[in-house]
Amino acid sequence: MRSLALCCLSGCWGRIPGAVNYGPTSYHVIQISSFANSTWAQNQCSGWLEDLQIHGWDSKSGTAIYLKPWSKGNLTDKELAYKEEMFRVYLFRFIKQIQALAKIYHMKYPFQFQVIAGCELRPGGSIVSFLRKALGGLDFLRFDNDTCVPSPEWGHLAQQVCALVTALRGFIAAERQFLYEICPRFLLGILDEGKAELQRKVKPEAWLSSGPSPGPGRLLLVCHVSGFYPKPVWVMWMRGEQEQPGTQHSDLLPSANWTWYLQATLDVASEEAAGLSCRVKHSSLEGQDIILHWGQPISITSICLAVIVPTLILLLCLALWHMRHHPCS
Ligand SMILES: *[C@@H]1O[C@H](CO)[C@@H](O)[C@H](O)[C@H]1NC(C)=O
Ligand SMILES: *[C@@H]1O[C@H](CO)[C@@H](O)[C@H](O)[C@H]1NC(C)=O
Repeated sequence: MRSLALCCLSGCWGRIPGAVNYGPTSYHVIQISSFANSTWAQNQCSGWLEDLQIHGWDSKSGTAIYLKPWSKGNLTDKELAYKEEMFRVYLFRFIKQIQALAKIYHMKYPFQFQVIAGCELRPGGSIVSFLRKALGGLDFLRFDNDTCVPSPEWGHLAQQVCALVTALRGFIAAERQFLYEICPRFLLGILDEGKAELQRKVKPEAWLSSGPSPGPGRLLLVCHVSGFYPKPVWVMWMRGEQEQPGTQHSDLLPSANWTWYLQATLDVASEEAAGLSCRVKHSSLEGQDIILHWGQPISITSICLAVIVPTLILLLCLALWHMRHHPCS
């Protein structure tokens, strides 16, 4: 369970000044390289606009998979073929370089390298590039303004690799070209080509249910909010205008159709549930918040009243009609 502030801020979906421009503002590639032993390694790669995947990578054929009609950005097929070739060569060299390092530094197999590299459009229009590598799930090194910064987690090994990378500038030529030339141009092209989809707004649907009882005499109220885009959302259990601080939020879960799902729960004493409501704010609602009231379950008496009263009235009318038309019967 994450706090509300986190769930609203996670992903850093920014707003580009000068345009009504909600949606992702960064592109990155994730590369996971698994080294089973000194001769066997494989790469898995994917391309993301923040948390939306737009590229896959078929490692058998060494070709990119474009998951959206616009995920080629404004590049021509020829340019893309060239970049794919560069990426294939980069992956091949990466494996060879790591295997060489593993030999020099007596690294123990198996291990896994993760690389995240990309660029982000900042408010004001500047583009910042980033690259981080992790080994075995721990930060290994990152690039800060084109300078290799080793992570303390891997101590001596990361320092030596950084020293090597800095000494042999050619070692990371492909990375540098990706970070400072390809990524920024590609990002702008994609954000433009994909803007109809990236900047669309889809209204959430919301409904209430009760979750597993947290204990005797207690209720878990669940407010489900589903199918919205973009990601930032505000969901709170309320009593009147008062936010209920006990509201807990699930992680934001993605759906295949590029929308999001979130649930907000509140653990209350059963007798305090009446009068609570769930309130949802989202940019697609344009200020018309969704408010769902936690209803008393419809009681037997109200069902009876709802059925019996109209029946009685109907009978009364029939009786009156009968008396009027057949006064002597
Ligand atoms: C290396 O690992 C692969 C995949 O696990 C395995 O098929 C292969 O036999 C291993 N080779 C050696 C030399 O251990
Ligand atoms: C693609 O768009 C980017 C950013 O708008 C631009 O710099 C680049 O020249 C465009 N490339 C092509 C091939 O049109």
